[in-house]
Amino acid sequence: MSPILELHGLTCTYGSLTAVDHVDLTVRPGERHALIGPNGAGKSTLFAAVAGTLPASDGRVMFAGRDVTALPEPERARRGLVRTYQHSSLFLDCSVLDNVALAVQRRHRVAYRFDRPARRFRRTGAEALRHLDAVGLAGRAEEKAAALSHGERRQLEVAMVLATGPGLVMFDEPTAGMSAAETERFVTLMGDLPDDLTVLIVEHDLDVVFRLAGHVTVLHLGRVLASGPPERIRADEAVQRAYLGSARTEDVFIDAGESP
Ligand SMILES: Nc1ncnc2c1ncn2[C@@H]1O[C@H](COP(=O)(O)OP(=O)(O)OP(=O)(O)O)[C@@H](O)[C@H]1O
Ligand SMILES: [Mg+2]
Repeated sequence: MSPILELHGLTCTYGSLTAVDHVDLTVRPGERHALIGPNGAGKSTLFAAVAGTLPASDGRVMFAGRDVTALPEPERARRGLVRTYQHSSLFLDCSVLDNVALAVQRRHRVAYRFDRPARRFRRTGAEALRHLDAVGLAGRAEEKAAALSHGERRQLEVAMVLATGPGLVMFDEPTAGMSAAETERFVTLMGDLPDDLTVLIVEHDLDVVFRLAGHVTVLHLGRVLASGPPERIRADEAVQRAYLGSARTEDVFIDAGESP
């Protein structure tokens, strides 16, 4: 199957600092691909360059066979390449359902244009409710988004992303700040996403990574240190050496996840 995302020599600099350094990466359709590495490895920078919020200094981003390197974020999103943010972008004063309905409307602006308002409203609401159901929040539809817990807000963001009809979704540390129970719920939710949806996830919690990902890429100092199936990454000596000599890889990544 041809790749849905390909990075060729992707490079990003902040002044004299090279945060992402000639990264080559291939993601296949439907893959659950985790990007891991210690603080400052360049994961969020790489995400921003793939999503189009940060210009690449060098290299190419190919999505669904097209070179999207020069396209701005909204245009990449329109083509199905979307990201969620580390910090929430919800309308807290609006209902849970309306947050998703807005995302549905954006997607169908053209398709629903000739509907009468009442029908458009019904169609949008029904579709939004379906996405809420997919993330387990249908029962909270009428409440204000502000009433949701931290974990539920992340679930709502997933529903909003699904509503845009994406091909590839990027999650940057989705479980950060979640309780153990919220993390558990989120992992289940991720596991239940449609099989044809491609997921690229930055995650510090290695337990989450090894439960969800079919492919893991390790970034270190802006470069790809290793990339492959989770069991190969776990056993990779270079990966272990790069972090803690002979210590277990798990310990190292868990340490890396605990930001000062
Ligand atoms: N806006 C910025 N301006 C200057 N330097 C930056 C900026 N953002 C990140 N950096 C630097 O670029 C490098 C990569 O940072 P980045 O945030 O991409 O790492 P990360 O792997 O996402 O780390 P974390 O796990 O802490 O989220 C770091 O050295 C960081 O200090
Ligand atoms: Mg980051």
